[in-house]
Amino acid sequence: MTNPAQQTIWLKDYTPPAYLVESVSLTFALAPRATRVVSKIAFRPNPETADRSFFLHGEQLNLLSAKIDGKEVTPDVTEDGLTCPAPDAPFVWEAEVEISPETNTALEGLYMSNGMYCTQCEAEGFRKITYYPDRPDVMAPFTVRIESDLPVLLSNGNPSASGDGWAEWHDPWPKPAYLFALVAGELVNHPDRFTTKSGKDVELNIWVRPGDEGKCAYGMDALKRSMTWDEEVYGREYDLDIFNIVAVDDFNMGAMENKGLNIFNSSAVLCSPETSTDANFARIEAIIAHEYFHNWTGNRITCRDWFQLCLKEGLTVYRDQQFSRDMRGEAVHRIEEVLALRARQFREDAGPLAHPVRPESFVEINNFYTATVYEKGAEVIGMLKQLVGDEGYAKALDLYFERHDGDASTIEDWLKVFEDATGRDLTQFKRWYSQAGTPQVRVTDDYADGRYTLTLEQETQPTPGQSNKDPLVIPVAVGLLNPNGDEVQPTTVLELTEAKQSFTFEGLSSRPVPSILRGFSAPVTIQKDSDDAERTFLLAHDTDPFNKWEAGRTLAKSVLSRMVLNGETAPTSYLDALRAVARDDTLDPAFRSLALALPGGEDMAQSIFALGHCPDPDAIFRACRSLRDAIAAHLSEPLASLYDQMAIDGPFSPDAKDAGRRSLRQSALSYLTRLDGGERATALYAAADNMTEQLGALASLIANGHGQSEVQSFANQWGHDRLVMDKWFGLQISHAQPEEAVSTAEALTQRDDFDWKNPNRFRSVIGALAMNSAGFHQASGAGYAFVADWLIRMDEANPQTAARMSTAFDSWRRYDADRQGMIRDALTRIGDRPNVSRDMAEMVTRMLG
Ligand code: ARG
Ligand code: ZN
Repeated sequence: MTNPAQQTIWLKDYTPPAYLVESVSLTFALAPRATRVVSKIAFRPNPETADRSFFLHGEQLNLLSAKIDGKEVTPDVTEDGLTCPAPDAPFVWEAEVEISPETNTALEGLYMSNGMYCTQCEAEGFRKITYYPDRPDVMAPFTVRIESDLPVLLSNGNPSASGDGWAEWHDPWPKPAYLFALVAGELVNHPDRFTTKSGKDVELNIWVRPGDEGKCAYGMDALKRSMTWDEEVYGREYDLDIFNIVAVDDFNMGAMENKGLNIFNSSAVLCSPETSTDANFARIEAIIAHEYFHNWTGNRITCRDWFQLCLKEGLTVYRDQQFSRDMRGEAVHRIEEVLALRARQFREDAGPLAHPVRPESFVEINNFYTATVYEKGAEVIGMLKQLVGDEGYAKALDLYFERHDGDASTIEDWLKVFEDATGRDLTQFKRWYSQAGTPQVRVTDDYADGRYTLTLEQETQPTPGQSNKDPLVIPVAVGLLNPNGDEVQPTTVLELTEAKQSFTFEGLSSRPVPSILRGFSAPVTIQKDSDDAERTFLLAHDTDPFNKWEAGRTLAKSVLSRMVLNGETAPTSYLDALRAVARDDTLDPAFRSLALALPGGEDMAQSIFALGHCPDPDAIFRACRSLRDAIAAHLSEPLASLYDQMAIDGPFSPDAKDAGRRSLRQSALSYLTRLDGGERATALYAAADNMTEQLGALASLIANGHGQSEVQSFANQWGHDRLVMDKWFGLQISHAQPEEAVSTAEALTQRDDFDWKNPNRFRSVIGALAMNSAGFHQASGAGYAFVADWLIRMDEANPQTAARMSTAFDSWRRYDADRQGMIRDALTRIGDRPNVSRDMAEMVTRMLG
């Protein structure tokens, strides 16, 4: 492949920095195409190493001048940085560079979005701002002066001085450069205050473009709840006088935890009942919490190097999940976590991009902000907590904050605090960080004379670069029910440490029904020769809400697999079981909604492939549709009454209780629309006063071939609102019939408001097509060609966003030879360009690998 520097960086090659930084002072004279950055950096030799080579990272910078201790120097400048002879003693480096934020379409470093200056430095964007040792183990206090006529000038830390056309900020907390941020623009704020538990008064602001002020209240509320929660649950207080959040329309990711100045994709903070769905509210609450929680897990304690990314991300995801469970209900949130984990992480772990939670090498670190590092990284912490208990976990975390505050740490440091706090040996557990792939746990059982024996066997399939897998420590939470449905063994955690191990339960009067992996206690797949009768029994009787849902899920997958593979029809026993769930008013509406939802195309393709068959996306689509029809017919009466019962009178509230009712109502509607010709959905669309119902009704209409006039009127109503229009673009593609999905996407890209350089808009079209499994995988190959064309175009503007979306192709080896051939061609076409980015080149190489 012709490509740029495909240099592999290895964890084992880590060396400490030759020089440390005492303090940084930066002055920005902002101009769209000629911003001047003056830096003054106090260096000192690192006493822990004899290495005295002075190297500063720097990319796409125009170096105007450089001095060491006041004397002009002429460094040796290359594409990725500079070297220069430097004293073996403390010295001051001064440099001036020029950069062009306006032409920065990669959205990394300093760039412009709608006339506003903003930054994204994680992971390695700071080197596009000035020359610096851009590595997380170099930490320093920063002083920043911003010169600009724009009215709002923000950076990290506390404001220290300001005047006409300038402002100065000082951040006393030593930080790595990836946490640097700067914002300048015509912004308005939604202000508030928070008093920490020790009485510190903190100013809070959410900064937005004029017109968006009305969409800040919920984010601010979520911020204050996050601050209180972190004090109560982890004993962590905020540590500056001010906490700023800024909403930016053009942003590669969800949000960024820059010290005291979090920058958010506007889709991850702005919301209102009229413009946002319940799912948006929940996501915003979780991301606000996530970025805020990083202040301790990420900022006060950061990562030594980027291989340790899960140290901050796995832990911070785990913390935001705990927070969301507390806010929204443990059971329902856990189910949603697992749905997301399976859809993204299990898929990743089963394909060519599989990598350990702590990778051992990378070419482009931006390609490793993955579901494995984030979500599996969080699961690993959840397992650790089950193994050492709640008290052990609390002690270990206290020790972690006490011992490592101010450090750039490693996974070794993290595990050591658990060992020291609890006395537990984590040598074997550590394999979760180094071994890729989703373990399969095979369950067999035996009953005789009151003794019940469960035998668990674990196996992990080879993944790229790892052919042999060792046994892991797997906490398997188990409960037993007797045949009348009573629980005879409450949840107990079995620790599976060997390849094969048996566990016995005594004194049982009859053969129990096991409920395995309660609460999804480990990120594994379970294989057990259960029949549908056992699953139906657990769906009706399991006392563990996760496993109750899981029983229904496994049942649905088993029914759908037989429909796809053997042309069977949906068995009445299954439909009866589902009807019982729909009618069970003792169940939380949100839970019932999840239990009534069917696995999607991607989920079924994964399952069918795991059964040893090649998935046919069209056949899966048809089977899902026919099952939906059977459910709609069999459950029409309870669904119709649920649709009426779940209507809410009174003002909109985004809380979990009302959201659950709307969700159940929407589930009912999606089935009923197959029967009533769209009558209910049309009426709901016309009457809706909130986006959840307006969009839900529109989705039901589109999915059933109705709604042409509503699609039009929606665009007329919301054409002025970028975030709402993103939903409109996406919905038409994700709910399109398979044979229409590509042409719909193509037509949408012709519109003037298809501003493809905006990552949200790009994802709403290209991403939505990639997620419409049967549409993307059309046998003609049109979906592959369309996505490949756009990835090529995007790669030239914004490699990070393009490379991320290229994962649409990572499941290619599941499919038939024709599809595989077309995808291989598409990937080759993307990777073989002379100007392919490093990001994309690495992804293509790994996927074809
Ligand atoms: N640290 C940010 C977060 O938690 C993500 C930033 C990722 N940025 C990137 N360029 N890959 O959620
Ligand atoms: Zn994070």
